[in-house]
Amino acid sequence: MSRRRRVTESVDPSEQHSKADTNPLSRTETALSPFKNALVNGGVPPSEAITAVAPYLNIFGKTFIPETDIPDLTGKVILVTGGNTGIGKETVLQLAKHSPSCIYLAARNATKAEAAIREIKGIVSDARVEYLELDLSSCASVKRAAGEFLRKERRLDILINNAGVMGLPATETPEGYDIQFGTNHIGHHLLTKLLIPTLLETAEQPDSKPKGVRVVNVSSSAHAVAPPGGIVFDNINLERANALTRYGQSKLANILDTRELARRYPGITSVAVHPGVILTHLYDAICGWGPVFRYGVALFGRLFMQNVVQGALNQLWAATSDEVENGSYYHPVGSKSMGNAYARDEELARKLWDWTEAELNKHGY
Ligand SMILES: NC(=O)c1ccc[n+]([C@@H]2O[C@H](COP(=O)([O-])OP(=O)(O)OC[C@H]3O[C@@H](n4cnc5c(N)ncnc54)[C@H](OP(=O)(O)O)[C@@H]3O)[C@@H](O)[C@H]2O)c1
Repeated sequence: MSRRRRVTESVDPSEQHSKADTNPLSRTETALSPFKNALVNGGVPPSEAITAVAPYLNIFGKTFIPETDIPDLTGKVILVTGGNTGIGKETVLQLAKHSPSCIYLAARNATKAEAAIREIKGIVSDARVEYLELDLSSCASVKRAAGEFLRKERRLDILINNAGVMGLPATETPEGYDIQFGTNHIGHHLLTKLLIPTLLETAEQPDSKPKGVRVVNVSSSAHAVAPPGGIVFDNINLERANALTRYGQSKLANILDTRELARRYPGITSVAVHPGVILTHLYDAICGWGPVFRYGVALFGRLFMQNVVQGALNQLWAATSDEVENGSYYHPVGSKSMGNAYARDEELARKLWDWTEAELNKHGY
């Protein structure tokens, strides 16, 4: 871990992106290798290849119309991470239309968060949306955010762990984790852990329906490009692996953590989702790898990617539909997927949970 540069608590994403290797050919080779290994070289059985490709084709799934299919949320308290832009902002907007008591829009940048809240209130004038400062790459910030939330609220009905980073160069969080793993998995695991007592208490309230209290972890079909073994505990930062493999490991961790959360806490309904392939700032880092990637994303985006309105549907469904099954993983919209073999590995899920707890313990959390 020590060979890598640590990032400070306040991460400037543009600074992270600028450190990428700018040689487009070497980046192309490196970036495509997991897909090549997985699909071309036959590393994945055909059934799993179809599962991985299905969301891109968008051929399965339910019709879900947020205006009419989201129930009344009066009295509910909701927290959405990464709610200041992209799929997260759209998620907050659609939930706000159904009168929850409050939505906490958790983000690391106050200016962007306040702008998003103004925009949402411009559409839903009586929306109660509050900014919660949260930098998931820092355990100290996650703890402060949970403390701030718990000072204000006695209940939490829906936690949507939506924030994420993809394709960043190998930098480290203040606790020494790869920036993608630290943000996407460690930060969200700690946030959820600190909020579990409140989620459990909320589920016991007389006004909570069965399956009413939810944790939605936003994963990705890119969990299929996690490294051999799925989670590499003895090289968790995946030294020498490319950025997409590190992203794949972090997104696999989101699914495994969901399965284990569901097993340990059946009183809370925990689900993981893949939102689809959605044109958002998530691809900014990849665009920064060079012109091949910039034009590639622009072309692919124009031809195949969906917008944030479509991207928010699966997590809105997962957060509010009675049909969800505890511990499951869904492709858009509401289409149950097994994920790849690692994502189905219950032993790996237990091991990841125990490993993560031990790591947090080591850092005093
Ligand atoms: N877009 C897709 O095709 C796709 C596909 C599969 C899965 N996903 C998943 O969908 C989720 C939402 O992504 P998106 O497409 O909406 O991307 P996005 O537009 O880039 O939004 C990501 C959000 O995460 C926030 N974030 C990043 N690092 C953070 C940190 N350290 N602390 C707190 N917040 C942080 C970002 O905040 P800033 O604005 O401050 O950067 C932003 O609000 C992610 O988990 C992603 O992995 C997306």
